Amino acid sequence: MGDLLLTGIGHLTTNTGDPVSDAAVAIESGTITYAGPARDAPSQGEADRIDCEDRCVIPGFVDAHTHLVFAGDRSDEFARKMSGASYQEIAASGGGIHSTVGATRAATEEELFVDAAARARRMIAAGTTTLEIKSGYGLDLEAEIRLLRVAQRIGEEFPITVKTTFLGAHSVPPEFKQHREGYIQVLIDDMIPAVAPLADYCDVFVEEGVFSVDEGRRILVAAADHNLGARVHAEQLGHSGGAMLAAELGAVSADHLDHATSDDADALAEAGVAAVLVPGASYNLRSPQAPGPMLWDAGCTVALATDCNPGTSYFESMALVISLAVVQMGLTAEQAIWSATRGGALSLGLDDRGLIEIGSVGDLVVLDAPTPNHIPYRPATNLVWKTVKSGQVMAV
Ligand code: NIG
Ligand code: FE
Repeated sequence: MGDLLLTGIGHLTTNTGDPVSDAAVAIESGTITYAGPARDAPSQGEADRIDCEDRCVIPGFVDAHTHLVFAGDRSDEFARKMSGASYQEIAASGGGIHSTVGATRAATEEELFVDAAARARRMIAAGTTTLEIKSGYGLDLEAEIRLLRVAQRIGEEFPITVKTTFLGAHSVPPEFKQHREGYIQVLIDDMIPAVAPLADYCDVFVEEGVFSVDEGRRILVAAADHNLGARVHAEQLGHSGGAMLAAELGAVSADHLDHATSDDADALAEAGVAAVLVPGASYNLRSPQAPGPMLWDAGCTVALATDCNPGTSYFESMALVISLAVVQMGLTAEQAIWSATRGGALSLGLDDRGLIEIGSVGDLVVLDAPTPNHIPYRPATNLVWKTVKSGQVMAV
């Protein structure tokens, strides 16, 4: 928890109103105590100081949807996809989620941690200060617990806040292939009660050929009995009703939403379900981007996330996600940056971040650029000059 005074900010995005030019931000014991014009800033004699030399400052990125912990390598699938194979074809021929499940089950907890830690380090260097991590590549109780423990350890050993999500309903594991109802019973009776102390949320991949709306409802209702909020992989590869299920259950978020309709958008907005969009996955699958502007205009809280996973979106950079959201999805740069910060925070129930105002957590990013519009405009450059977590400057 640091004390820090940032001066010389050329352009400050607070997410609370218009940007401030010639600004300063003060942080005490990890919390923002001043954000506004430099001329009114406190002197903060003891604090570390950074002169931003006219650079811009935005809140730290909140990456609200990742599958960060996994083993194995699926770069061969990427090549097959680029030659025209579909995600479903690859899965049917032994690739896909089950290939990662095999490698993940065979890995030790330490191996999983080392790989996930490397990804987390790169994310921090790219400006991410809060991260959601899903399990879902274990698909049995012991392996799912291992994944959630690794996820929690990332938050303990790195300067990044971690929220965890149990995604045991990512796929029916091979040993239950002939007996899917048996797996759903194991999820409800054994796994959810056992993982509940390690998870904040429960997620279900609602998709044709994966889990149905009715199955998703049973799993998420059982999870709610153990105080796990609901997140839903919804309308990713086709339209199967996951968004309406999220609205019906008052889920915290509906994620992906590539095939969401305007009725879905209205229902999500009405029910207060955040729309977590992951443009990296659509880019990688060469499928149409989610209707971000429609969801925004319907009044949804839109969040952007990397969906970091080995199959559809091995993305670690929120900046690149913002660029896709602007160039391919049609959000404005301001909307995309809000969604990658405040939107993500709200989708994780973290009202204390994603804003640069008095009382918010001192998580922010100094960009080596005059305005945040440079993020979508210069997608392949890491513009992060400093990542600040709870008032401490990260050495990256
Ligand atoms: O978010 N949609 C399901 N899960 C992941 C992909 C998982 C995989 O292919 O390994 C996703 O795209
Ligand atoms: Fe996902």
